[in-house]
Amino acid sequence: MTAADELRARYVDQLRQEGLLGADELVQAFRTVPREEFVATGFDGGDGRWLGPDDPDFLPLVYRNHPLVTKLVDGIPASSSSQPSLMAAMIESLELRPGSRVLEIGVGTGYNAALMTAMGARVTTVDIAPDVVERAEAALRRVGLAGAVDVRLGDGYLGAPAETGYDRVVVTVGVTGVSPRWLDQLVPGGYLLAPVEHAGNHPVLRIRPGVRGVAEAR
Ligand SMILES: C[S@@+](CC[C@H](N)C(=O)[O-])C[C@H]1O[C@@H](n2cnc3c(N)ncnc32)[C@H](O)[C@@H]1O
Repeated sequence: MTAADELRARYVDQLRQEGLLGADELVQAFRTVPREEFVATGFDGGDGRWLGPDDPDFLPLVYRNHPLVTKLVDGIPASSSSQPSLMAAMIESLELRPGSRVLEIGVGTGYNAALMTAMGARVTTVDIAPDVVERAEAALRRVGLAGAVDVRLGDGYLGAPAETGYDRVVVTVGVTGVSPRWLDQLVPGGYLLAPVEHAGNHPVLRIRPGVRGVAEAR
């Protein structure tokens, strides 16, 4: 067992003890997908350091329940690996089944897409930043998921243009509203999850297309 495997096992135990990981399939996904591969170009240590795999603090920080900022633009976070407990809660709320078609908005590191894929979902994911797409694809290749996840470059507001048939849409970037395209690209009975800005926060809403163009959200 490598140091990363041990830390990953402890991280999963901790998340479980805190009641943050429920379903067996989700636990198994967190156990098997190596988060360190998805942040291999480093992340912001929060103390002025950019932490890469050679730093002794790298693995312990990867395996904490914390978001990791993997790209800064003018000092402002532009891409990240979301907080693991948030990813877990959102994935559970997606109620995935083997073969579920999921459209993710914001590939970021690709870790969340890999977790959903490990649970048997068929994931298409869109990101607006070419360098982010490139790094996520490289990470997916390293963990043997090249081709298993459909990574696309584009504006997520448009979703997957000219396509329909997604069981779920999961938006992993804070938004101020819901694109009608996401609703149009769902199957009947499908729904989307999105962190929609409200009074300075981003509560995650479950949104279903409704009658006469009126969506319903909880
Ligand atoms: C929080 S990160 C995504 C987290 C990721 N899913 C993970 O595995 O943890 C948000 C991502 O959204 C992307 N993004 C921002 N605006 C976007 C847009 N309009 N369309 C698509 N992606 C966008 C950013 O480039 C960034 O990579």
